[in-house]
Amino acid sequence: MSATLRFDNIGKVFPGVRALDGVSFDVNAGEVHGLMGENGAGKSTLLKILGGEYQPDSGRVLIDDKEVHFASAAASIASGIAVIHQELQYVPDLTVSENLLLGALPNRLGWVDKRAAKAHVRERLTAMGVDLDPNAKLRKLSIAQRQMVEICKALLRNARVIALDEPTSSLSHRETEVLFKLVRDLKADNRALIYISHRMDEIYELCDACTIFRDGRKIASHLALADVPRETLVQEMVGREISDIYNYRARPLGEVRFSVKDVQGDALSAPASFEVKRGEIVGFFGLVGAGRSELMHLVYGADKKKDGTITLDGQAIRVRSTGEAIRHGIVLCPEDRKEEGIVAMATVAENINISCRRHYLRGGLFLDRKKEAQTAERFIQLLKIKTPSRKQRIRFLSGGNQQKAILSRWLAEPDLKVVILDEPTRGIDVGAKHEIYNVIYQLAERGCAIVMISSELPEVLGVSDRIVVMRQGRIAGELPRDKASEQAVLSLALPQSDSVAEAA
Ligand SMILES: Nc1ncnc2c1ncn2[C@@H]1O[C@H](COP(=O)(O)OP(=O)(O)O)[C@@H](O)[C@H]1O
Ligand SMILES: [Mg+2]
Repeated sequence: MSATLRFDNIGKVFPGVRALDGVSFDVNAGEVHGLMGENGAGKSTLLKILGGEYQPDSGRVLIDDKEVHFASAAASIASGIAVIHQELQYVPDLTVSENLLLGALPNRLGWVDKRAAKAHVRERLTAMGVDLDPNAKLRKLSIAQRQMVEICKALLRNARVIALDEPTSSLSHRETEVLFKLVRDLKADNRALIYISHRMDEIYELCDACTIFRDGRKIASHLALADVPRETLVQEMVGREISDIYNYRARPLGEVRFSVKDVQGDALSAPASFEVKRGEIVGFFGLVGAGRSELMHLVYGADKKKDGTITLDGQAIRVRSTGEAIRHGIVLCPEDRKEEGIVAMATVAENINISCRRHYLRGGLFLDRKKEAQTAERFIQLLKIKTPSRKQRIRFLSGGNQQKAILSRWLAEPDLKVVILDEPTRGIDVGAKHEIYNVIYQLAERGCAIVMISSELPEVLGVSDRIVVMRQGRIAGELPRDKASEQAVLSLALPQSDSVAEAA
């Protein structure tokens, strides 16, 4: 079962980008090897080479000292390698068990005995501690659940080398725990594991060793990670020191700008009310499924609300559609930016400008290309979007950089009054997070009322002036910044039957 994986001097060039440049490191059997680096550093490219999706331009991949060449994904799978990619591949109309068997056991079980296959899947899922209905269609599952399916698929193959590309970016606390247990079991079983994450806590909790990439190059490999301070990793990743990524700055708050009263909808278990002042950043915390996004969809007119009033600058307003919300200067940057978001064939500049474009229409007919270019350049610089040019097609950017471009689209809207950000930094690296927080503070300083939904507790605590906690479809309470400890927020967020210890 044991295998050692060696990358030897790997190079890969894309038009205009050197994605990997002389990368060498080893991953041992029985080791979880972390891979860290800013968005666009080359991490996913390396895993795609391992997974047989890309061919390296130079260098070698060795398994147990033997050079291997993967002409296709199938060849990599056949060699006992499982790569769980950042962008999920799944068939939405198949069920969980069909999806799992698709990649897992086509030869041994085939499609003949569906009942036996299903029983097998149910048994394995239970053994893994994963709570999923084998008969559920993939399109009905949450992103987190689809991610679990993908991970289970690799595990069912009994791969010897398993590489996970940002697997937890959309998992809940509990799902993350399940995943961690799976990873630890695999490690104990002497598999070799690569684990990509932007979350420092996870890297330290799970990994034995860690390699840092920057701009396609290996900066360092730490074989005894436990002895290495976090600041070292951050500095290696960004190439400069960042002392406090939240860099919170207090600002004077004005009158109530945005007020939501007794809003009701199908996804809520009680009417919800909250207020945001001019210049205020209100963090919405809750476990996945607590109803935060659902509430904001009602407020924003994306879903139909049953009751309730919305007031902007003291005036009751109607928000029956997202168009109406935008006309009032209320924008929502959705959580699922990929699905609701990118126009894959369009350029980075076009993607950034899609929604504010109408403001650049001269005489309603012609696009002001110059303005469009300026906006694009401004955000490419501000958020350090890694792209050879604004004219690059967005689908060629790394996942995190696509996210940044899509986030820019909302931030580029002029005349914003209320900005609702749903998980604005999910999947985004430390350096860029820092920049995004700065953009949020700037918006607040301009007088915007800001709602920030986040599942990352340190982020909510670090950035918000006030924290509203939701639990099981209702607002469970709120805490001002100076009263908001990790403990206080979690005890509001957890279902009453749970204990804090269980989730921590
Ligand atoms: N198929 C591709 N075509 C062109 N450029 C690409 C392609 N895949 C990745 N890149 C570029 O290679 C660099 C590394 O990307 P990636 O490996 O996805 O980074 P990471 O996973 O570390 O965020 C980025 O600049 C990205 O835009
Ligand atoms: Mg990536």
